[in-house]
Amino acid sequence: MVRLVREIAKEILGEEKANLVWSSLDIVGDIAVIRKPPSIEIEDLMILAEEMLKKLKWLKSVWAAISPSEGSYRLRRLEWLAGEKRTETLYREHGCVFKVDIARVYISPRLSYEHIRIARLVKPGENIINMFAGAGLFSIIIARFAKPARVISIDINEDAYRFMLENIELNKVQGIVIPIKGDALEIIDRYSNNVQRVLIPLPELALKAFPKALRAIDREGYIHVYEFAKARNKLEALEQVEKTYREAIESNRDVAKYSIEGRRIVRSVGPRKYQVVLDVWVKRS
Ligand SMILES: C[S@@+](CC[C@H](N)C(=O)[O-])C[C@H]1O[C@@H](n2cnc3c(N)ncnc32)[C@H](O)[C@@H]1O
Repeated sequence: MVRLVREIAKEILGEEKANLVWSSLDIVGDIAVIRKPPSIEIEDLMILAEEMLKKLKWLKSVWAAISPSEGSYRLRRLEWLAGEKRTETLYREHGCVFKVDIARVYISPRLSYEHIRIARLVKPGENIINMFAGAGLFSIIIARFAKPARVISIDINEDAYRFMLENIELNKVQGIVIPIKGDALEIIDRYSNNVQRVLIPLPELALKAFPKALRAIDREGYIHVYEFAKARNKLEALEQVEKTYREAIESNRDVAKYSIEGRRIVRSVGPRKYQVVLDVWVKRS
C-alpha cells in the first residue's frame, strides 16, 4: 500500500518530493494524513490526495498535518486535502477496534508495535496504571492480549476520555480497563504502593511523572517511560535517556534496587530527534 502511494506521489511530484511524502504518511482507518513537508505546496498535496482517492478505493478522506503534535492534548493542526470532510473513523490494530477523531484525539499508528510489545510483557493479575491513555490503545490491547486485574487509564482530554469509554465497550473490556478523566500527575497519588506496572507514554511530562510512578509501584514492578532525545544517532539517544533516568532513580529514596531491562528507539521524530522507551524494573525501599 505504501509502495502504491509512493508510486502515485512519484508520478505527481517527482522522485525527490515523493520520498518526503511517503515517509510522512499515516493511515488511520479510512483516513490518510500526510505531514506537510515545508518544501511541498498544499495545492500539490491536494492533487496527490485526489489521485490517492481514485486509486485506493477504501480510502475516503485525506488530510495534511500542518503542525507537529502540540499542546497538552498532543493534537496536530489539520488541513483538508480531498474526499469526505470527516475526521472520525474506525481504526483497527492487533484485532482491536478503536473509534477515534484525528482532529480531537492523539492517535499514531507508529505506536502499534509498542502497544503489543508492552501487552506481551504483562503477567496475569497485574494492576496497571496508564497515565496518558489517549483513546485507550495501550490499555485495551493489554486487556485483550494479557490478563491484567485492571488497567487504570487516565487522560485529561475530555474527547479522549469519551472515545476511550466507547472503545472499552467496543472491545468488551469493561471492568478491566478503568477510565478516569483528569490530570494524571494528581490522580496517580491515589494509588501509592498499589500497582505492578505504570506506563508513561507522554515524553513532555515523563520526567515529572516518573517519581510519582515510582511511588505507585507496590513492592516491585515495572515502569515504561517514553522520552525524547536530541542526539547525533540512535545509540547516543538511547544512552542519553538511560543516563537521565538512572540519575532520577539513583537520587530517589523510594527505590531499593532497579535495573533497566529494555531500551529501544520507538521512532524518529525529526532530524536527529528520537523517541526512546525504557523498561525499568524497580524494587521499593
Ligand atoms: C501521546 S498521547 C498518548 C497516546 C496513547 N497512549 C496511545 O497509545 O495512543 C498523550 C495523551 O496524554 C494526555 N495528557 C496530557 N497531559 C495530561 C495530564 N496531565 N494528565 C492526563 N493526561 C494527559 C493527552 O490528552 C494525550 O491524549
